[in-house]
Amino acid sequence: MTDPDFAVVEFVLTTLAYNEREDLDPDDLPPSYRTPFWSEGTIERPLTATVETARQATGVDRPWEAISGLMFTDHDDFSGAIEFTDRSMAEQWYLDRAEDDRIEENPVLAATFEDDRDVNHELARANNRPARADKAFIDTLLEEYFDDDEEDEMLDLVDVRAPEEIELTLDDIVLTDEQEGEIYKIVKAIEHREYLASIGLREIGKLLFVGPPGTGKTSVARALAQKLGLPCVEVKLSMITSQYLGETAKNVEKTFEVAKRLSPCILFIDEFDFVAKTRASDEHAAIKRAVNTLLKSIDEVSLIRDEVLLIGATNHPDQLDAAAWRRFDEIVNFPKPDAPMRADILRIVTREMEIVDFHPEELADLTEGLTGSDLRLVLREAVLEALTEERTTESDSHDHSD
Ligand SMILES: Nc1ncnc2c1ncn2[C@@H]1O[C@H](COP(=O)(O)OP(=O)(O)O)[C@@H](O)[C@H]1O
Ligand SMILES: [Mg+2]
Repeated sequence: MTDPDFAVVEFVLTTLAYNEREDLDPDDLPPSYRTPFWSEGTIERPLTATVETARQATGVDRPWEAISGLMFTDHDDFSGAIEFTDRSMAEQWYLDRAEDDRIEENPVLAATFEDDRDVNHELARANNRPARADKAFIDTLLEEYFDDDEEDEMLDLVDVRAPEEIELTLDDIVLTDEQEGEIYKIVKAIEHREYLASIGLREIGKLLFVGPPGTGKTSVARALAQKLGLPCVEVKLSMITSQYLGETAKNVEKTFEVAKRLSPCILFIDEFDFVAKTRASDEHAAIKRAVNTLLKSIDEVSLIRDEVLLIGATNHPDQLDAAAWRRFDEIVNFPKPDAPMRADILRIVTREMEIVDFHPEELADLTEGLTGSDLRLVLREAVLEALTEERTTESDSHDHSD
């Protein structure tokens, strides 16, 4: 953990430098520093360092107390403003304590200290999560775009997740070689999308994840968003079609509009087989219209042009017809994990646990046919059971009266 005084000085220095340098923009601010300053979709200068903004940005509970002992700090009781009485002393104090790696995590300070230290502003900025992936930005954009009633309706159908809200990362998911290859390819395509556009390569960026429930399809879509620093717009087709029958086609269009507004982003369409089900059965005309709208919307959206990466997922590939398959450029299989993968999943899930006598390979041999999701559940049950047993033996010997 960083020391509280260091964290607060770093924050105040960042606000001062940012206010002076018109060439920097919100993408240069570390994401947590942006949080207190978002207002109606923008971050305006000047950024003022106060007890409140410092607390939100750094997580330090009592920011003024943390730095009040330093010679160069001052504080206005009334406004809460935190100031430096001697800026160069503050900078020296900071530079004496900050490693290069630390400075490079903050593009504003990397730009400020590029001459003093071995840090690179461009690199720092490239590694910093962009402002348009902030939850606060996404929320204001959605608010602006939909009026209140519409927004409630829409948010029932579409789940928008900011990268900062995604807990599971790609490192937590055990992938087959094929999956790894596909993910690597798409990451490269997104990095080089301008080049791909320039050579006219457009048939990329529509993936279909196919496999039984619990094999990690949803997790990989979200983790990919997290890795790329993009919002993830999630829709379940069954939701879109079941709730507002008459409105379905409109909802489909709106979903794609949301994705385009939030782009670059990932649009994750779950339960894609729902298309097939409704096309096959002779259902309501409204649903048929919606399905056609969906297929058309998919044709019209593009990673290269709109910066929307489309990922469909289905547990029932057998139910999809050619019209649906044709929409995707790549099919990514999510098989049930084999024994070595199961052992890896068990190792990952138990990473934080201390288990005596744990043999993932043996356990993997005993769990043939289970998915990643099943394995997680099995372990959770085992842990809860162990806790319950402990509780019973404990309550036998101690008296817990509270
Ligand atoms: N290959 C895997 N490696 C690690 N965890 C997995 C794997 N497959 C599934 N899981 C875990 O199982 C749970 C359910 O997975 P999910 O992504 O919802 O599956 P799906 O969308 O295919 O039904 C998640 O907690 C996920 O992390
Ligand atoms: Mg899923």
